[in-house]
Amino acid sequence: MINTMAVDEYPYMNTGETMTLDPAAPLRFSILTLFPELLRPFTQEALLGKAAQKGLLECFLYDLRAYAGNKHHKVDEPPYGGGAGMVIRVDVVERALADLHTRHGPPDEVILLTPAGPTFDQKTAETLAQKNHLTLLCGRYEGFDARTEQLITRELSIGDFVMMGGEAAAACILEAVARLRPGVLGDEESHRQDSFSSGLLDYPEYTRPAQWQGQAVPEVLLSGNHAAIDRWRRDQALERTLARRPDLLAQTPLSAQDSATLLRLGLSAEQLQAWGAATPPTPKRKRQSKTP
Ligand SMILES: C[S@@+](CC[C@H](N)C(=O)[O-])C[C@H]1O[C@@H](n2cnc3c(N)ncnc32)[C@H](O)[C@@H]1O
Repeated sequence: MINTMAVDEYPYMNTGETMTLDPAAPLRFSILTLFPELLRPFTQEALLGKAAQKGLLECFLYDLRAYAGNKHHKVDEPPYGGGAGMVIRVDVVERALADLHTRHGPPDEVILLTPAGPTFDQKTAETLAQKNHLTLLCGRYEGFDARTEQLITRELSIGDFVMMGGEAAAACILEAVARLRPGVLGDEESHRQDSFSSGLLDYPEYTRPAQWQGQAVPEVLLSGNHAAIDRWRRDQALERTLARRPDLLAQTPLSAQDSATLLRLGLSAEQLQAWGAATPPTPKRKRQSKTP
């Protein structure tokens, strides 16, 4: 069924007063989509729902059709020059953004979701988590008229594949950015050790049972020796990253101890030097016992 809800009927819309941005305010997402109902449960459940209840996050879903400017709520037209599919009109997006600005003030960013954009990553998530108000434009069909570029601050892709619409991409960005805001995760520390946050992939985790199908949890994790556990985890993160994403190591600050681990794992001293890694500690020589 085509969603033809007018903007003022839409329950997620705010009352329309103009707001000024406040650094202490919740992180606000305004999402423009042809299918707001796809995203609504996503914003209401689990930690995103809890963050909204705690006043840490606000998600406004805007139905693009409400800005179509015609009684059939039609937002797309065939491409000039011919070819398959339909293209979303730039004037529809312009009207939607103008309304959004009136309601919430100018957003910090207007982000157009497209497979042709730079790939969204943890660094971008960290940058966006510093903002107060992000607007996400979800496309459908063949995407947006190219002139929409003049209305946005950046494009983002969530990977080298093509989906049918931008809603899943918006959901990814919403999750990745919101979890970096203080108070959203139960444990403030947990995102700092996640893959990419430290520059490395995360280390492997284990929980009960300690024995499963003949496989035991690594002994060090049961030792209670926290210094040994921290070193084991760091070494595992280095090993995983070297095996799966060696490209990440070049951008990660590596301590002398990390260098020693990487040398042991087969990386060359020249490579470590090229990455600016700290020099590994020289192994302590065993004292020669004096022969009588
Ligand atoms: C079928 S796609 C359009 C693809 C476009 N013709 C192209 O080849 O670049 C429809 C919409 O889905 C969204 N989309 C699809 N894949 C995406 C991706 N990897 N990252 C972000 N958005 C994506 C975009 O909003 C896009 O406008």
